[in-house]
Amino acid sequence: MFDGDPGIDDALAILTLLREPVDVVAMSAVVGNVPVETGFRNLRDLAALAGREDIPVFRGAERPLVRDYVFDPTVHGVDGLGGAQIAESRAPMQREHAAVAIARVLAAAADPVTWIATGPLTNVALALDLDPSLARKVRRLVVMGGSTLRGNVTPAAEFNVYVDAEAWRAVLGSGIRPIMVGLNVTHMVGMGDEDFAEAEAIHTTVGRATRVMLDYYRRVYEEGEWGEPKLHDVVAVLGAISPELLETRAALVDVETGSQLTYGMTVVDDHAPAERCNCDVAVDVDAAAVRRRMLQALRSY
Ligand code: BDR
Ligand code: CA
Repeated sequence: MFDGDPGIDDALAILTLLREPVDVVAMSAVVGNVPVETGFRNLRDLAALAGREDIPVFRGAERPLVRDYVFDPTVHGVDGLGGAQIAESRAPMQREHAAVAIARVLAAAADPVTWIATGPLTNVALALDLDPSLARKVRRLVVMGGSTLRGNVTPAAEFNVYVDAEAWRAVLGSGIRPIMVGLNVTHMVGMGDEDFAEAEAIHTTVGRATRVMLDYYRRVYEEGEWGEPKLHDVVAVLGAISPELLETRAALVDVETGSQLTYGMTVVDDHAPAERCNCDVAVDVDAAAVRRRMLQALRSY
């Protein structure tokens, strides 16, 4: 099950996920990089681009649990995909709210499900609020978000947590033990010139769309002087499918929701006693393997 806010790196993550030999039972869009309406459209169109209109796509929360949502188009563009033109999906429009759909899918699942979240955790928190017992149906919840080091929206907070820190707090208290893939590891997975050259050499419909997204993403990183463009959400997706790509450490994680200055900061205590740990925090990643697997996936369309 996939939940995200596409978003350029979400889009790369989705195109990667849909070429992996796993059964994707549902995908959902949440407010984040773009308003949910835009993210929902992108998610549907990306599924169609990948030839996977069979996967149901649901529209989720349009605002965080408590705070207001403020849209900033800088990093991913107004359309979330850096101007990439993707043909509109013809799949039937799902009317069910993502949180309701997720709860339904989990309740019906014969085996525990792996859940990947690459955006704010609003949909995840809402689904678990509908039926807290569904936590038992989750084999693994892999979340791109947070950081053991500094943030990216503020010195303290990473974007996905910053958008909805209350949702993070709810998920951390849900009984699920998430795997946190934070900036401390995603910043190890940048795209260098060779990777861009490999991506640019893909002359398919997917390759052309990817090129527009990557050009935009690269320009934003250059302008911000942020180093190589980072594949945040791709790390979470591949880490969920192939846990050996990540090294994790058990920790007690909490998130700041009260302070103006540090709202959304993830506080990671990796010295907490084992019985108090509520999260497995990624501390290292096989960056070369992540880049290779993503490029392989993109080439395979
Ligand atoms: C996260 O924020 C978003 O901009 C990206 O898609 C990623 O999920 C990184 O902080
Ligand atoms: Ca994202």
